[in-house]
Amino acid sequence: MRRPLQTTSAQSPLHLEPQPPLHLEPQPPLHLEENTIYCGDAGIFLSQIPDASVDLVICDGPYGVTTHAWDQHTSIQEFNLRLIAWCSRILKEGGAMYLFGKHDCIDFIDYRPYLHLRTRIVWYQPSRLAQGRRNYTNNYDVICYFLKGPQPRCFNLEAIRVPQLVELEHRKRCERVPSVQQGPYAKTKYNEQGKNPGDVWGDIKQLTYRSKELLSRDLLHTIQKPERLIERLVLASSNAGDLVLDPFAGVGTCPVVCKRLQRRFLASEANPTFVALANQRLQEARESLDSIPSVPTPTQNPHNTLETDDDDV
Ligand SMILES: C[S@@+](CC[C@H](N)C(=O)[O-])C[C@H]1O[C@@H](n2cnc3c(N)ncnc32)[C@H](O)[C@@H]1O
Repeated sequence: MRRPLQTTSAQSPLHLEPQPPLHLEPQPPLHLEENTIYCGDAGIFLSQIPDASVDLVICDGPYGVTTHAWDQHTSIQEFNLRLIAWCSRILKEGGAMYLFGKHDCIDFIDYRPYLHLRTRIVWYQPSRLAQGRRNYTNNYDVICYFLKGPQPRCFNLEAIRVPQLVELEHRKRCERVPSVQQGPYAKTKYNEQGKNPGDVWGDIKQLTYRSKELLSRDLLHTIQKPERLIERLVLASSNAGDLVLDPFAGVGTCPVVCKRLQRRFLASEANPTFVALANQRLQEARESLDSIPSVPTPTQNPHNTLETDDDDV
Protein backbone atom coordinates (compact mmCIF):
# COMPACT_ATOMS: atom_id res chain seq x y z
CA MET A 1 0.00 0.00 0.00
CA ARG A 2 1.40 3.38 -0.98
CA ARG A 3 1.96 5.83 1.86
CA PRO A 4 1.08 9.51 1.42
CA LEU A 5 3.86 11.86 0.44
CA GLN A 6 4.86 14.29 3.15
CA THR A 7 4.03 17.90 2.49
CA THR A 8 7.43 19.31 3.34
CA SER A 9 8.39 22.15 1.06
CA ALA A 10 11.80 22.68 -0.52
CA GLN A 11 11.96 26.03 1.32
CA SER A 12 11.74 24.37 4.73
CA PRO A 13 14.04 21.34 4.52
CA LEU A 14 13.69 18.68 7.15
CA HIS A 15 16.00 19.23 10.07
CA LEU A 16 18.03 16.47 11.58
CA GLU A 17 17.87 17.51 15.23
CA PRO A 18 16.95 15.53 17.18
CA GLN A 19 17.96 12.34 15.34
CA PRO A 20 16.15 9.39 16.84
CA PRO A 21 17.60 5.99 15.99
CA LEU A 22 15.66 4.00 13.41
CA HIS A 23 14.63 1.74 16.26
CA LEU A 24 14.31 3.34 19.67
CA GLU A 25 15.38 0.63 22.10
CA PRO A 26 18.85 1.38 23.49
CA GLN A 27 21.42 -1.32 22.82
CA PRO A 28 24.87 -1.94 24.28
CA PRO A 29 27.76 -0.94 22.01
CA LEU A 30 28.74 -3.59 19.51
CA HIS A 31 32.20 -4.84 18.94
CA LEU A 32 32.19 -4.81 15.16
CA GLU A 33 34.01 -7.50 13.32
CA GLU A 34 34.46 -7.25 9.58
CA ASN A 35 32.81 -9.76 7.25
CA THR A 36 30.00 -10.31 9.72
CA ILE A 37 26.26 -9.76 9.49
CA TYR A 38 24.91 -8.29 12.72
CA CYS A 39 21.36 -9.07 13.70
CA GLY A 40 19.83 -5.82 14.92
CA ASP A 41 18.72 -2.34 14.14
CA ALA A 42 20.52 -0.48 11.37
CA GLY A 43 20.46 2.83 13.28
CA ILE A 44 22.25 1.35 16.27
CA PHE A 45 24.66 -0.49 13.97
CA LEU A 46 25.48 2.68 12.03
CA SER A 47 26.08 4.63 15.22
CA GLN A 48 28.92 2.18 16.05
CA ILE A 49 30.84 2.80 12.82
CA PRO A 50 33.81 5.16 13.16
CA ASP A 51 33.90 8.42 11.19
CA ALA A 52 35.29 8.35 7.64
CA SER A 53 36.02 4.62 7.76
CA VAL A 54 33.89 3.18 4.96
CA ASP A 55 34.52 3.18 1.19
CA LEU A 56 31.02 2.35 -0.02
CA VAL A 57 27.53 2.08 1.48
CA ILE A 58 24.69 0.15 -0.15
CA CYS A 59 21.32 0.97 1.42
CA ASP A 60 18.59 -1.31 0.14
CA GLY A 61 16.30 -0.72 3.09
CA PRO A 62 12.68 0.37 3.50
CA TYR A 63 10.92 1.84 0.46
CA GLY A 64 7.82 2.84 2.45
CA VAL A 65 5.48 1.15 -0.01
CA THR A 66 4.78 -2.36 1.27
CA THR A 67 2.81 -3.73 4.20
CA HIS A 68 5.88 -5.24 5.90
CA ALA A 69 6.23 -3.90 9.45
CA TRP A 70 9.81 -2.86 8.69
CA ASP A 71 8.65 -0.84 5.71
CA GLN A 72 6.24 1.35 7.69
CA HIS A 73 7.61 4.86 8.12
CA THR A 74 5.63 8.05 8.55
CA SER A 75 7.90 9.70 6.03
CA ILE A 76 10.30 7.61 3.96
CA GLN A 77 11.98 10.84 2.88
CA GLU A 78 12.74 11.83 6.47
CA PHE A 79 14.01 8.32 7.16
CA ASN A 80 16.26 8.53 4.11
CA LEU A 81 17.55 11.94 5.13
CA ARG A 82 18.70 10.49 8.45
CA LEU A 83 20.38 7.64 6.61
CA ILE A 84 22.12 10.06 4.28
CA ALA A 85 23.38 12.11 7.23
CA TRP A 86 24.69 9.00 9.00
CA CYS A 87 26.37 7.72 5.88
CA SER A 88 27.98 11.08 5.29
CA ARG A 89 29.68 10.77 8.69
CA ILE A 90 31.02 7.27 8.17
CA LEU A 91 32.06 7.52 4.50
CA LYS A 92 35.59 8.38 3.48
CA GLU A 93 36.03 11.44 1.27
CA GLY A 94 34.95 10.48 -2.25
CA GLY A 95 33.11 7.39 -0.96
CA ALA A 96 29.78 6.45 -2.52
CA MET A 97 26.36 5.69 -1.11
CA TYR A 98 23.68 3.95 -3.15
CA LEU A 99 20.17 4.42 -1.80
CA PHE A 100 17.35 2.30 -3.18
CA GLY A 101 13.76 3.50 -3.30
CA LYS A 102 10.80 4.58 -5.33
CA HIS A 103 10.59 7.69 -7.51
CA ASP A 104 9.87 10.06 -4.60
CA CYS A 105 12.32 8.59 -2.07
CA ILE A 106 14.37 11.79 -1.70
CA ASP A 107 11.75 14.38 -2.65
CA PHE A 108 11.46 17.54 -0.55
CA ILE A 109 14.46 16.82 1.65
CA ASP A 110 17.71 18.74 1.60
CA TYR A 111 20.50 16.16 1.47
CA ARG A 112 22.99 18.68 0.05
CA PRO A 113 24.75 19.47 3.36
CA TYR A 114 25.67 15.77 3.59
CA LEU A 115 26.24 14.20 0.21
CA HIS A 116 26.33 15.10 -3.49
CA LEU A 117 23.69 13.47 -5.63
CA ARG A 118 25.57 12.30 -8.71
CA THR A 119 22.89 10.31 -10.53
CA ARG A 120 19.50 8.77 -10.05
CA ILE A 121 19.81 5.38 -11.66
CA VAL A 122 16.56 3.95 -12.96
CA TRP A 123 16.40 0.20 -12.52
CA TYR A 124 13.86 -0.63 -15.19
CA GLN A 125 11.77 -3.77 -14.79
CA PRO A 126 9.51 -4.18 -17.80
CA SER A 127 7.84 -7.44 -16.91
CA ARG A 128 5.90 -6.66 -13.74
CA LEU A 129 2.87 -8.87 -13.34
CA ALA A 130 0.92 -6.36 -11.23
CA GLN A 131 -0.70 -3.94 -13.67
CA GLY A 132 -2.09 -0.56 -12.57
CA ARG A 133 -5.77 0.09 -13.18
CA ARG A 134 -5.96 3.67 -11.96
CA ASN A 135 -2.42 4.75 -12.61
CA TYR A 136 0.47 3.91 -14.91
CA THR A 137 2.10 0.67 -13.83
CA ASN A 138 5.28 1.33 -11.93
CA ASN A 139 8.12 -0.22 -13.88
CA TYR A 140 11.18 1.01 -12.06
CA ASP A 141 13.04 1.50 -8.80
CA VAL A 142 15.51 4.30 -8.34
CA ILE A 143 19.00 3.89 -6.99
CA CYS A 144 20.32 7.26 -5.87
CA TYR A 145 24.06 7.47 -6.33
CA PHE A 146 25.56 9.88 -3.79
CA LEU A 147 29.15 10.88 -3.21
CA LYS A 148 30.86 12.37 -0.22
CA GLY A 149 32.50 15.37 -1.84
CA PRO A 150 32.57 16.30 -5.51
CA GLN A 151 34.83 13.54 -6.87
CA PRO A 152 34.57 9.76 -6.49
CA ARG A 153 37.38 7.80 -4.85
CA CYS A 154 36.85 5.40 -7.71
CA PHE A 155 34.53 4.81 -10.62
CA ASN A 156 35.66 1.62 -12.28
CA LEU A 157 34.04 1.97 -15.66
CA GLU A 158 36.12 -0.84 -17.16
CA ALA A 159 34.59 -3.25 -14.66
CA ILE A 160 30.97 -2.42 -15.49
CA ARG A 161 30.89 -2.01 -19.25
CA VAL A 162 27.85 -3.55 -20.93
CA PRO A 163 27.56 -4.92 -24.45
CA GLN A 164 27.06 -2.51 -27.32
CA LEU A 165 24.30 -4.09 -29.34
CA VAL A 166 22.14 -2.02 -31.68
CA GLU A 167 24.48 0.93 -31.50
CA LEU A 168 27.33 -0.90 -33.15
CA GLU A 169 26.63 -0.20 -36.83
CA HIS A 170 25.30 3.26 -36.12
CA ARG A 171 28.36 4.19 -34.09
CA LYS A 172 30.78 2.90 -36.66
CA ARG A 173 28.97 4.91 -39.37
CA CYS A 174 29.01 8.05 -37.21
CA GLU A 175 32.70 7.70 -36.47
CA ARG A 176 33.45 7.92 -40.21
CA VAL A 177 31.55 11.21 -40.66
CA PRO A 178 34.05 14.12 -41.02
CA SER A 179 32.10 16.49 -38.76
CA VAL A 180 32.19 13.86 -36.01
CA GLN A 181 35.87 13.10 -36.58
CA GLN A 182 36.69 16.78 -36.22
CA GLY A 183 34.21 17.49 -33.43
CA PRO A 184 34.56 17.39 -29.63
CA TYR A 185 33.57 13.71 -29.47
CA ALA A 186 36.14 12.54 -32.01
CA LYS A 187 37.96 10.57 -29.35
CA THR A 188 34.82 8.70 -28.31
CA LYS A 189 35.44 5.54 -30.25
CA TYR A 190 33.47 2.34 -30.31
CA ASN A 191 34.85 0.21 -27.51
CA GLU A 192 35.00 -3.53 -28.05
CA GLN A 193 34.84 -4.01 -24.30
CA GLY A 194 31.36 -2.51 -24.14
CA LYS A 195 29.82 0.81 -23.17
CA ASN A 196 29.00 2.70 -19.99
CA PRO A 197 25.76 1.20 -18.60
CA GLY A 198 24.21 4.67 -18.39
CA ASP A 199 21.59 5.61 -15.85
CA VAL A 200 18.71 3.43 -17.03
CA TRP A 201 19.40 -0.21 -16.33
CA GLY A 202 17.08 -2.53 -18.14
CA ASP A 203 19.59 -5.30 -18.64
CA ILE A 204 19.37 -6.72 -15.13
CA LYS A 205 16.13 -8.52 -14.51
CA GLN A 206 14.29 -8.71 -11.24
CA LEU A 207 14.32 -12.19 -9.75
CA THR A 208 11.35 -14.37 -10.65
CA TYR A 209 9.95 -17.59 -9.21
CA ARG A 210 12.15 -19.45 -11.65
CA SER A 211 15.42 -17.66 -10.87
CA LYS A 212 18.00 -20.14 -9.62
CA GLU A 213 19.30 -17.47 -7.28
CA LEU A 214 16.00 -16.97 -5.42
CA LEU A 215 16.23 -18.46 -1.91
CA SER A 216 12.49 -18.61 -1.24
CA ARG A 217 9.30 -17.45 -2.95
CA ASP A 218 8.52 -15.31 0.11
CA LEU A 219 11.54 -13.17 -0.72
CA LEU A 220 10.40 -12.24 -4.21
CA HIS A 221 9.81 -8.55 -5.08
CA THR A 222 10.39 -6.89 -1.73
CA ILE A 223 13.47 -8.61 -0.36
CA GLN A 224 16.06 -10.37 -2.44
CA LYS A 225 17.90 -8.39 -5.12
CA PRO A 226 19.73 -9.97 -8.07
CA GLU A 227 23.43 -10.44 -7.40
CA ARG A 228 24.25 -8.84 -10.75
CA LEU A 229 22.65 -5.59 -9.67
CA ILE A 230 24.59 -5.32 -6.44
CA GLU A 231 27.71 -6.55 -8.22
CA ARG A 232 27.59 -3.61 -10.62
CA LEU A 233 27.45 -1.13 -7.74
CA VAL A 234 30.26 -2.83 -5.84
CA LEU A 235 32.47 -3.14 -8.92
CA ALA A 236 31.93 0.49 -9.94
CA SER A 237 32.46 2.15 -6.58
CA SER A 238 34.98 0.06 -4.68
CA ASN A 239 38.27 -1.72 -5.19
CA ALA A 240 39.45 -5.07 -3.90
CA GLY A 241 40.16 -4.82 -0.16
CA ASP A 242 37.79 -1.85 0.34
CA LEU A 243 35.23 -1.79 3.14
CA VAL A 244 31.58 -1.97 2.03
CA LEU A 245 28.72 -1.32 4.44
CA ASP A 246 25.25 -2.81 4.05
CA PRO A 247 22.90 -1.78 6.89
CA PHE A 248 19.86 -3.66 5.45
CA ALA A 249 21.44 -6.93 4.42
CA GLY A 250 18.25 -8.97 3.93
CA VAL A 251 19.32 -12.45 2.87
CA GLY A 252 22.89 -11.35 2.26
CA THR A 253 23.14 -10.47 -1.43
CA CYS A 254 25.65 -7.68 -0.83
CA PRO A 255 27.82 -9.65 1.63
CA VAL A 256 27.96 -12.58 -0.82
CA VAL A 257 28.92 -10.27 -3.68
CA CYS A 258 31.58 -8.63 -1.50
CA LYS A 259 33.01 -12.01 -0.58
CA ARG A 260 33.19 -13.01 -4.24
CA LEU A 261 34.74 -9.71 -5.32
CA GLN A 262 37.26 -9.63 -2.48
CA ARG A 263 35.81 -6.64 -0.65
CA ARG A 264 35.55 -6.48 3.13
CA PHE A 265 32.04 -5.87 4.46
CA LEU A 266 30.08 -4.87 7.53
CA ALA A 267 26.36 -5.62 7.50
CA SER A 268 23.27 -5.54 9.69
CA GLU A 269 19.80 -7.00 9.35
CA ALA A 270 16.90 -6.89 11.80
CA ASN A 271 15.29 -10.21 10.87
CA PRO A 272 17.09 -13.21 12.46
CA THR A 273 15.69 -15.65 9.87
CA PHE A 274 17.20 -13.55 7.10
CA VAL A 275 20.51 -13.36 8.95
CA ALA A 276 20.57 -17.17 9.16
CA LEU A 277 19.81 -17.48 5.43
CA ALA A 278 22.46 -14.90 4.63
CA ASN A 279 25.08 -16.73 6.69
CA GLN A 280 24.24 -19.99 4.97
CA ARG A 281 24.60 -18.28 1.60
CA LEU A 282 27.91 -16.76 2.65
CA GLN A 283 29.17 -20.15 3.73
CA GLU A 284 28.23 -21.60 0.33
CA ALA A 285 30.01 -18.71 -1.39
CA ARG A 286 33.14 -19.34 0.69
CA GLU A 287 33.08 -23.04 -0.14
CA SER A 288 32.62 -22.47 -3.86
CA LEU A 289 35.42 -19.89 -3.87
CA ASP A 290 37.70 -22.33 -2.09
CA SER A 291 37.04 -24.88 -4.82
CA ILE A 292 37.90 -22.45 -7.67
CA PRO A 293 41.56 -21.68 -8.38
CA SER A 294 41.01 -17.95 -9.09
CA VAL A 295 38.24 -15.32 -8.98
CA PRO A 296 37.70 -12.30 -11.28
CA THR A 297 39.97 -9.38 -10.51
CA PRO A 298 38.23 -6.07 -9.77
CA THR A 299 38.85 -4.77 -13.28
CA GLN A 300 37.20 -7.74 -14.97
CA ASN A 301 33.48 -7.61 -15.51
CA PRO A 302 32.09 -11.12 -15.14
CA HIS A 303 28.91 -10.13 -17.00
CA ASN A 304 30.25 -8.20 -19.93
CA THR A 305 29.07 -10.70 -22.48
CA LEU A 306 26.28 -10.87 -24.98
CA GLU A 307 24.59 -13.71 -23.13
CA THR A 308 21.23 -13.21 -21.49
CA ASP A 309 19.78 -14.98 -18.46
CA ASP A 310 17.58 -17.82 -19.48
CA ASP A 311 16.45 -18.95 -16.08
CA ASP A 312 13.73 -16.27 -15.86
CA VAL A 313 10.27 -16.19 -17.32
C1 LIG B 1 14.82 -4.72 0.60
S1 LIG B 1 15.34 -5.74 1.89
C2 LIG B 1 17.09 -5.91 1.57
C3 LIG B 1 17.36 -7.04 0.66
C4 LIG B 1 18.80 -7.34 0.37
N1 LIG B 1 19.38 -6.34 -0.48
C5 LIG B 1 18.92 -8.69 -0.29
O1 LIG B 1 19.15 -8.78 -1.50
O2 LIG B 1 18.71 -9.69 0.41
C6 LIG B 1 15.33 -4.66 3.25
C7 LIG B 1 15.74 -5.32 4.54
O3 LIG B 1 15.90 -4.32 5.53
C8 LIG B 1 15.60 -4.91 6.79
N2 LIG B 1 15.35 -3.79 7.70
C9 LIG B 1 14.35 -2.88 7.63
N3 LIG B 1 14.47 -1.97 8.62
C10 LIG B 1 15.58 -2.30 9.31
C11 LIG B 1 16.26 -1.73 10.42
N4 LIG B 1 15.81 -0.63 11.04
N5 LIG B 1 17.39 -2.32 10.85
C12 LIG B 1 17.88 -3.43 10.24
N6 LIG B 1 17.28 -4.02 9.19
C13 LIG B 1 16.15 -3.46 8.73
C14 LIG B 1 14.39 -5.78 6.50
O4 LIG B 1 14.25 -6.81 7.46
C15 LIG B 1 14.72 -6.31 5.10
O5 LIG B 1 15.31 -7.56 5.17
